[in-house]
Amino acid sequence: MAETRIQGGIKMQLTKEQIMIRKTAREFARKDLAPLAAERDQNHDYPAESLKKMGELGLLGMLVPEEYGGEGLDTVSYVLAMTEVAYACASTAVIMSVHNSICCGSLLRFGTQQQREKFLKPMTAGEIICSFALSEPEAGSDPASLQTTAEKDGDFYVLNGTKRWITGGATSGLFIVLARTDPEAGHRGISAFLVTRDMEGFSTGRLEDKMGQCASDTTDLLFNNCRVPADHLLGNEGEGFIVAMSGLDDGRIGIAALSLGLGQAALDQAADYARQRVQFGKPISENQGLRWMIADMATDVEAARQLVLNAASKKDQEERCTKEVSMAKLYASEMSNRVTGQALQIHGGYGYTKEFPVERLYRDARVLTIYEGTSQIQKMVIANEMLGGKKKRKN
Ligand code: CAA
Repeated sequence: MAETRIQGGIKMQLTKEQIMIRKTAREFARKDLAPLAAERDQNHDYPAESLKKMGELGLLGMLVPEEYGGEGLDTVSYVLAMTEVAYACASTAVIMSVHNSICCGSLLRFGTQQQREKFLKPMTAGEIICSFALSEPEAGSDPASLQTTAEKDGDFYVLNGTKRWITGGATSGLFIVLARTDPEAGHRGISAFLVTRDMEGFSTGRLEDKMGQCASDTTDLLFNNCRVPADHLLGNEGEGFIVAMSGLDDGRIGIAALSLGLGQAALDQAADYARQRVQFGKPISENQGLRWMIADMATDVEAARQLVLNAASKKDQEERCTKEVSMAKLYASEMSNRVTGQALQIHGGYGYTKEFPVERLYRDARVLTIYEGTSQIQKMVIANEMLGGKKKRKN
């Protein structure tokens, strides 16, 4: 039976297909990902085998039309699946998110026919995982100030510079790299390139020793006279900042859904623990103080779900959804931090150990308010969308 959700005062039906996709993703995530998540986190093991299966299941090209090997699904289906994957393993979910939304999305929006045919089929099959390389040591929240250069040399662009915090830097086969083609033109002097790992002059730099999401690697990328064929320019010269910003609109829906899945997992863990943990001769779930905590957590999770579904359905209506996406990312990522913290508190001392999953959920949640735009950046975006204009940059 179709499921009804209230959305913006309007009844939103999940279709039978969307419910089926959620069921498929849930079964896969709980059977294949969940049992390995703790071990992968501890050993920093990249989920290569699981990603292969995800390619076979259609989870790596969800929004890509069938002609390019994808599933041709809507964004609501995508966020439902993402929530399920994140419920089991946040490290796998972030790889899925960057690959599906920023990378496949940018290729679809800006790629030539030849680029789409060359890259999207292996990407949707899970044969190539794609990463997004925007940030630099001195350009995080302010990517318009990035310094990596791309100089035209005949049929090539020559890239020089360092990218930082790149999810999948050590493992992905393909990268969308933002580099400066015109040093005088500010954000309009940035272009996007499709760089493959085997290109001369490309290498991976230091591996970050992270607090959470440890099964997904984060590294520097080093470009030392890296020669990229000119037909690997994605979009027009000078269009790279728009490639990145519109890609992040897609990407932040994925991270919002990831945050929701993590929050839901923490809530479920806390409720289960509270029912079985006995103190003072009764389950701690019978204490009013704890019942109110669970009620607040459940309300928080549900509010995030509505914002995530709202942003996804707005995107599916092909309306500009920058504001709704940032609201969903802001709220869901903050919720995930609150709820995983409360879940850990409910577990008491056990929550502070690796014996229970909440310890990992708490660490995995922490980056959600940082990557793909900090909470403070999301507030800037929301305010800009609402109020328009802002002060011009000085440099
Ligand atoms: N869609 C399309 N175009 C957009 C856009 C959007 N969402 N947002 C801005 N633009 C366009 C503007 O219209 C403007 O176009 P013009 O050329 O006509 O002027 C241009 O981009 C510049 O816009 P702004 O003046 O607003 O740009 P800004 O430099 O002030 O920056 C910002 C705005 C929102 C703060 C942006 O810099 C930003 O999002 N910063 C955060 C960066 C970020 O999220 N990094 C994440 C790294 S990726 C990552 O974490 C992935 C991972 O591995 C997990």
